[in-house]
Amino acid sequence: MKGIEKRKADHIQVSLEEDVSSGHNFWDDLHLVHDSLPEVDLEEIDTATVLFGKKLSAPLMITAITGGYAEAEKVNRNLAKACAALGIALGVGSQRAAMERGDRSSYEVIRDVGVPLVVGNLGAPQLIPQAHKEAFGVEQARQAMEMVGADIMAVHLNYLQEAAQPEGDTRARGCLDAIKALAREIPCIAKETGAGISRETALRLKGTGVVGFDISGTSGTSFSKVEAYRSRQMKNARREAIGRTFGEWGIPAPISVRMAQVGLPLIASGGIANGLQAAKSIATGAQCAGMARAVLRDAMISAEAAEERIRTIIEELRVAMFLTGSSNVQQLAGKRVIFTGLAREWGLELGVI
Ligand SMILES: Cc1cc2nc3c(=O)[nH]c(=O)nc-3n(C[C@H](O)[C@H](O)[C@H](O)COP(=O)(O)O)c2cc1C
Repeated sequence: MKGIEKRKADHIQVSLEEDVSSGHNFWDDLHLVHDSLPEVDLEEIDTATVLFGKKLSAPLMITAITGGYAEAEKVNRNLAKACAALGIALGVGSQRAAMERGDRSSYEVIRDVGVPLVVGNLGAPQLIPQAHKEAFGVEQARQAMEMVGADIMAVHLNYLQEAAQPEGDTRARGCLDAIKALAREIPCIAKETGAGISRETALRLKGTGVVGFDISGTSGTSFSKVEAYRSRQMKNARREAIGRTFGEWGIPAPISVRMAQVGLPLIASGGIANGLQAAKSIATGAQCAGMARAVLRDAMISAEAAEERIRTIIEELRVAMFLTGSSNVQQLAGKRVIFTGLAREWGLELGVI
């Protein structure tokens, strides 16, 4: 394996084998208030919701992980089967590999499996010319959507990762216009990859015509740390140092959920690994909770293992709804959230809590 294929395989391997989590999970600073008299039966609780016009059985999405090399096909197939069985949303990893090298099969496996909401994925850096690389345009984005049967395209913002990556694409000038050109033609969301979206950036992005955000904030997978491990393997000491220095960089996920409230649907992700954290994200202001690394290990094993993991998360979400007296997602969204510790300090400083 070499090039982009090797990079994709490395991301999975490093994510599974090394400690690449943020040092602090800010969701743990948030608390829901217990209701000792819920006045609703646990089984009666309705976790269903509608996101981008699609009905989901729970406000959950497995966000972009992989694609573009042999093993990715298994991961995507397992995730697609699990998400279809459970009625939740699924995103694929960056489709750049398919666009550059025609390697489509690891993405196509998620088509026609019955996933209620499918999200394609292209990087914002690929929408503008990079050194020795041409930009992807509307036509390639349409092909990428068609490849996975996508309802919506996620344009990922990953400049922290690109800056820490030995082979990173670090040209950023012109991205906003490129996103605007794309969002005029196809429904797009802007998606971070672990460093969060600020209010100012959310407002600028709203101006491009994107229909929503996945804020992917700091709390979970740190791509700066992932790239530091890869740089070490590649004996690139300078990039390794940069990756480590910026390992905790970013806007805490729950704070970004509050900052990016600009009137568009919002997916909260970054460090969400159980149903209680998902419930907190809904009460904080998100319409859906997103997860990547929490399901990766099971997705490598089988569709059944992935389904079991996600089923547990849905049950935990239901219990959190029960214990806050929320009969449905709308009621959960109206519940009070207590911010403590570091999240509180961030929230007060930025005036978002
Ligand atoms: C192995 C791995 C590969 C990823 N690849 C992509 C990608 O290709 N495109 C993208 O937008 N996000 C990608 N992500 C980022 C996730 O979608 C998510 O935003 C981030 O990992 C934070 O969520 P988590 O803490 O639940 O992992 C990847 C994450 C992991 C763990």
